[in-house]
Amino acid sequence: MSLSRRHFIQLSALGLVAGPTLVSASQQSETGLKGEPGVRRLKLALKPEKRHWFAPLGEPVGLWAFDRDQLRLRQGEPVEIEVENQLPEPSSVHWHGLRIDNAMDGVSGLTQAPIAPGGRFVYRFTPRDAGTYWAHSHHKTYEQLARGLYLPLIVEEPEPVAVNRDLVLTLDDWRLNDARQFDAASLGAMHDWAHGGRTGNLLTVNRQLKPRFNVKGGERVRLRLLNTANARIMALRLPDLPSWIWAKDGQPLATPKAHSGPLLLAPAERYDLVIDLPAQEQGSLAVQLETDGAPIDLAYLQLDGHIEQGPRDDPRPLPANPLAQLGDGPADHSVQLDMTGGAMGRLRQAVYGDQTLSVRELVQQKQIWAFNGVVNMPEMPLLEVRSGDLVEVEMLNNTRWPHSMHLHGQHFQSDLTRYHPGLWHDTVVMAPGEQTRIRFRAGNPGSWLLHCHMIEHQAAGMVSWIRVL
Ligand code: C2O
Ligand code: CU
Repeated sequence: MSLSRRHFIQLSALGLVAGPTLVSASQQSETGLKGEPGVRRLKLALKPEKRHWFAPLGEPVGLWAFDRDQLRLRQGEPVEIEVENQLPEPSSVHWHGLRIDNAMDGVSGLTQAPIAPGGRFVYRFTPRDAGTYWAHSHHKTYEQLARGLYLPLIVEEPEPVAVNRDLVLTLDDWRLNDARQFDAASLGAMHDWAHGGRTGNLLTVNRQLKPRFNVKGGERVRLRLLNTANARIMALRLPDLPSWIWAKDGQPLATPKAHSGPLLLAPAERYDLVIDLPAQEQGSLAVQLETDGAPIDLAYLQLDGHIEQGPRDDPRPLPANPLAQLGDGPADHSVQLDMTGGAMGRLRQAVYGDQTLSVRELVQQKQIWAFNGVVNMPEMPLLEVRSGDLVEVEMLNNTRWPHSMHLHGQHFQSDLTRYHPGLWHDTVVMAPGEQTRIRFRAGNPGSWLLHCHMIEHQAAGMVSWIRVL
């Protein structure tokens, strides 16, 4: 079973008419203040933002944002991040993919109270794993993520890795209305919630239209790709160059895997690639999105000059992160997760809170998807396990829609054949009718969500949790 092209929803002309914005890769401005020895203190604000996507025509587009382009932390270095909420709504910050204390996981209503407008919350943690992660709102996520409340989060290896350049490409789509403003009126539209989620009509990379990243011929580049869209699965077409997959969802491959052809990136998934640029002085290499029709340019690697570079060896693996191995033994816990519901699904009724409701009643509650016949955050966890236990979840996509399944706070392996064997994931995409067994060693104690990251599906019922004791 494959993810057919009809799941890559057509774009309106809106994204295609806008000209390129000539801005290079995001630069990191560190505002870390030195505090007590060993702890790095940072401040982050959640605030309104204006994007001049259509300048000089039209008004800037009003969005929400973190007050920086990306966050770089160091593996093993404790941080204290004071988040100030300058938005008119409560919010919270989830550190997607980081294995940290549960109290710092940022899930409003589960691990913390939301941060009130004007309020602050201090997140304290030490990133155990290097790699490519992201931070995003975990409060009314379907709205706040759509408005732009996300931030690429890079955890640097203690020693620099052997590349000439490190580029982060954060892919997103936005839904704008006819006035070319953020389409707030369609937030929460039941049609999106019951179908493939909210897809947009304007594509950006690092919140820019068709940005150009300055590179030099002959360079070896680390390309960090991240899909922050609410629901759009993206099939990327990368420049046809020697390329390797170096890491998935932050976790390095034991052996880098040569890559060619399209790269599928579902909501919340990340890949780190190594690519070797041709030894030419000038030129422009496009990163494209595949569609039913002609591919769409998303961004360009703009060659300007070159470096002297002889033949290279294949890249060495990134240093491994301290993940507990799964081993070959039997699982300590094994459970099924039957995913049902949605448009054209077979859901007749489901448990919501302490009642069993018919589909009609569920829809009145804006609930339409179920895990094991239960919609939304159930009282009881899917599983209760001990830290260190080997856990197996057999996920069955008994719906007509793909789903991007995400587990908080642990990395797992999956037997889905669309992925290279041995990859670690915090998110995997499942096609309609597909099933997969995921396996992980339970990590830190606490309550960890398991949900679809096509975030309207989460809002409409596709969320459960596991308790680690
Ligand atoms: Cu990206 Cu529940 O998270
Ligand atoms: Cu889903």
